[in-house]
Amino acid sequence: MRTIAASAASFAVLAFGAAAESVAESVVQSVAQIDYMLECQGCHLPDGSGSSQGSVPSLLDSVGRFVTVPAGRSFLVRVPGSAQSALDDTRLAAVLNWMIRKFGPAQVAATFEPYTAEEVAQHRSHPLTHVARVRSELLRQLEESAQTLPR
Ligand code: HEC
Repeated sequence: MRTIAASAASFAVLAFGAAAESVAESVVQSVAQIDYMLECQGCHLPDGSGSSQGSVPSLLDSVGRFVTVPAGRSFLVRVPGSAQSALDDTRLAAVLNWMIRKFGPAQVAATFEPYTAEEVAQHRSHPLTHVARVRSELLRQLEESAQTLPR
């Protein structure tokens, strides 16, 4: 997959010259969507709504909120579903960016600083051990600092 994506992106650059960047970007987006379908949506569902049965939180409520603060950016990478996925750092960064654009509020999607492979690698090297505790602490901090979800 990675090779196909990389080749497709290089081909796009060669074939389309000036328009290559946006073509390469749309290849990245398509690969990210497929990665989400293969690696994440089994639990998180196609619409990101998760499931109360398996305690899978809704991404619609969380990703756009967490990504606005440094501890939350780190959390999104360090949760087991992300950190322990089969995706390499580049592909995980692309899936997280895709998820935030898809499931986060429009204003966050438009203004957030996308993850790079380097940032993902850095957070990923510190996996979470107490996910639920870290998550509720994060939510408490967000509420305390009166972080409201931009709409
Ligand atoms: C086997 C089921 C499963 C798969 C597959 C899975 N997740 Fe998750 N995910 C969970 C559960 C359960 C949680 C809640 C935290 C926990 O207990 O790990 C979660 C939480 C998250 C969160 C934090 C959301 C929040 O509100 O706390 C993110 C971000 C996330 N997953 C991303 C991903 C990504 C990206 C993938 C695919 C690469 C993925 N997950 C694959 C089950 C899964």
